[in-house]
Amino acid sequence: MKDKLKKLEATALPAIDKAKTPQQLQELSVKYLGRKGELTAILRTLKDLPADKKPEAGQLSNKTKQALEAAFSKKEQELSTAAVDQELKKDFFDTTLPGKTPPQGHIHPLSQLQEEIEQIFSKMGFAIMDGPEVEAEYYNFEGLNIPKDHPARDMQDTFFIDKEDHKKFGRLVLRTHTSPVQVRTMEKYGAPLRIIVPGRTFRYEATDASHDTTFYQVEGLLIDKDISLAHLKGVMAEMLGAVFGKPVTVRFRPGYFPFVEPGLEVDFSCLLCDGKGCKVCKGLGWVEFMGAGMVHENVLKAGGIDSKEYQGWAFGFGLTRLAMMRHKITDIRLLSNGDTRFINQF
Ligand code: DAH
Repeated sequence: MKDKLKKLEATALPAIDKAKTPQQLQELSVKYLGRKGELTAILRTLKDLPADKKPEAGQLSNKTKQALEAAFSKKEQELSTAAVDQELKKDFFDTTLPGKTPPQGHIHPLSQLQEEIEQIFSKMGFAIMDGPEVEAEYYNFEGLNIPKDHPARDMQDTFFIDKEDHKKFGRLVLRTHTSPVQVRTMEKYGAPLRIIVPGRTFRYEATDASHDTTFYQVEGLLIDKDISLAHLKGVMAEMLGAVFGKPVTVRFRPGYFPFVEPGLEVDFSCLLCDGKGCKVCKGLGWVEFMGAGMVHENVLKAGGIDSKEYQGWAFGFGLTRLAMMRHKITDIRLLSNGDTRFINQF
């Protein structure tokens, strides 16, 4: 029996050690320790031994059983950690690989310019105002001294939102300029006033490289005592110098807008040729920039301001046009068509 046990250990232990899978190990366990296993068979013969041989044989077979069980559990553990290792290897990924960068958007060039302009005017003490894009006919026209039959209405045809006539306020239209916010602000805050109004405006017109049905303007309004156009010239030179990063000269020419008297066209010195004359300024040395003037007394009256005590100036320029000049954009439609190849350049 001693020999049998020794032999069994000598074959079983290396066999267990060589097992490669949990199944193989299970088969070996059945082979040796199972109900019909080899060790079990030997143990069964214990009872047939003479009484004096029993204790020694019992001890020996117990040892063998323990040795086998220890080998099984050691191997079992080895195989299970190997399985985990293998799983990990399958799932391996290289943590040093560069990550995928999600595409990042940015502020639209028009909004960039608008924010800059708001900051420049804020520093000069101007408040930033807002007004409705769907506007009452009254604020867009009559309040600005443009009566119903006035020829100036032809220059600013618009989109009518409804047919209903709201008495003094007329119909609802898409505002053709930011000027309606002048009267709205005067009504609300009275004099003195120092505001700019950046915002979206609309016109009913054919679209081409320099015209769109939707564009952006910035309105300005300053009302106080003893205000003259000299202040306007200073404010505009300050603003344009800050936007273009170099000194800019401003020029006034007479112009007509019903809501100002006198009215002006404001030009600035061409930045490409320093006023010498080039393609961009059509050889003039000056670039047409905006309309302005001293606020008409009818407009002050519509805003509830006493024109004997207060006066002021107003201006309106195209934010879209200024952005185009700044970035040398030749087609206005590029700014709103959503083409990322274009917009990602800014
Ligand atoms: N609202 C005018 C336009 O859109 C621009 C303008 C001209 C605004 C003269 C003004 C101004 O405030 O005084 O063409």
